[in-house]
Amino acid sequence: MSQAGPGSSAEPCTLVIFGGSGDLAKRKLVPAVYNLLLDGVLPPNYAILGLGRKPLSDEEFRASSRDGITKHSRQKLADEKWKDFERRLFYLSGSIEEPQIYHDIKTRCEKIEAELKLPGNRIFYLAIPPTSFAPACEGLKQAGLIQATGNKTPFSRVIVEKPIGHDLASAREINSTVGRVFHESQIFRIDHYLGKETVQNLLVIRFANSIFEPIWNHKYIDHVQITVSEAEGVGTRATYYEEAGALRDMVQNHILQLMCLVAMEPPYSLDPDVVRNARIDVLRCLQPIAGKDIEKFVVRAQYSNGKIHGTEVPGYRHEAGVRPDSTVETYVALKLFVENWRWAGVPFYLRTGKAMTKRASEIAVQFKDIPQILFNINPAAPQAPNVLTLRIQPEEGLSLRIMSKQPGSRTQTHPVEMHFKYGDVFGAPSPEAYERLLLDVMAGDASLFMRRDAVEASWAWVTGILDGWNAHGTKWLPEYPAGSAGPVEADRLIQNDGRAWRVL
Ligand code: BG6
Repeated sequence: MSQAGPGSSAEPCTLVIFGGSGDLAKRKLVPAVYNLLLDGVLPPNYAILGLGRKPLSDEEFRASSRDGITKHSRQKLADEKWKDFERRLFYLSGSIEEPQIYHDIKTRCEKIEAELKLPGNRIFYLAIPPTSFAPACEGLKQAGLIQATGNKTPFSRVIVEKPIGHDLASAREINSTVGRVFHESQIFRIDHYLGKETVQNLLVIRFANSIFEPIWNHKYIDHVQITVSEAEGVGTRATYYEEAGALRDMVQNHILQLMCLVAMEPPYSLDPDVVRNARIDVLRCLQPIAGKDIEKFVVRAQYSNGKIHGTEVPGYRHEAGVRPDSTVETYVALKLFVENWRWAGVPFYLRTGKAMTKRASEIAVQFKDIPQILFNINPAAPQAPNVLTLRIQPEEGLSLRIMSKQPGSRTQTHPVEMHFKYGDVFGAPSPEAYERLLLDVMAGDASLFMRRDAVEASWAWVTGILDGWNAHGTKWLPEYPAGSAGPVEADRLIQNDGRAWRVL
């Protein structure tokens, strides 16, 4: 097996989690570090310092972490490993608005590092609302907690969670705030989709095989569909979601990044900046959608009452915490073009929604129809085209639809699917995105993180649509019943081009 990427170069460090008593830390971050330990890829020496408003002792933080691991970890809690892990968990309570806390962080880090003989490398994870980034960054700087980049060890790195802004201007502001204190090479902006195994596999599929790249262009590809469908509704996140909506929450970051991986040119090396440059070039080639085109190319909708897996789900406007006249979209479908030589004229159809029929994320590359000769002479019964589908979740894998002869004396064709499932080939479930991403930060590898220019380029494109929506105003959005595959308006968007969404 050939290998590229970090892992082995992850360095001993202290992970300081701002928002340490929050949901992300409990469900994702602490379990991710624990799984890295079980997989034997964590550096031998490390510590986690949770930081939060909630008053917790180290013991209580350890108990809550144990609970989080029991409930959310990919791998089961193993008692002998837990013992060593537990003694490396610490907690500090206080308000990040108060300058004193930063001195407390410093004293605490120094104490832990002396105790565990850690070299003083620190990773600050900002799992807090963006409004708190400024005090957090300034506080860290004032307390002398940030090492200059020239001085390579010990290192200081910061991980920034989404949302990075709600439009281009606010994204720039956040980037400037963090950038005033940390050098770009110290900043790791998370887009957890980039840490997903199947998403990383995209690069391998494209560039570790010889058969795809020659046909990966407008001459052979008819169109691309990217779907991220979620069965969950807005749940308990209405306050955040009312300010976000599907375009900001999913398209601006995750889905555009998936698109970049599908559409990018081959990078000349796996150097983080070379890969990131290749991805950002796609964003720079996106045809803007503005003015009248918005209605033609973008559909937004909201879920209404319905049933998901047999359970009644209230419509979005009836969810707790949602304004009864909310016009926030829970679904968005759009068509876009990448204006470059490779992709000229190839539509990319993207769609994402909450409270849909099922959880299913995939990228489907549909190839052009064969000529209407030989096996395709009947225009009333066209041959099914070849489709390469990368399933991101669940059931990560890949399938290729090809035409085959149906057994029998007559020559009749039949579409067949060749499937590859990660689970079948590699056994154990793939690591969670946060595992890979945290390990990369420990190794200082920023390939799977968003550089400032990429965040801003994607906001610039999305803000064009948001501005159009704002200028237009609306009192009502098209609806789709919870548990369905989306609104009819989205079907029309693609049907007008003589195509159809893939069945979820
Ligand atoms: C988050 C969004 O970034 O991604 C959520 O804020 C969404 O609204 C989630 O549910 C989806 O992530 P995943 O990994 O479950 O597909």
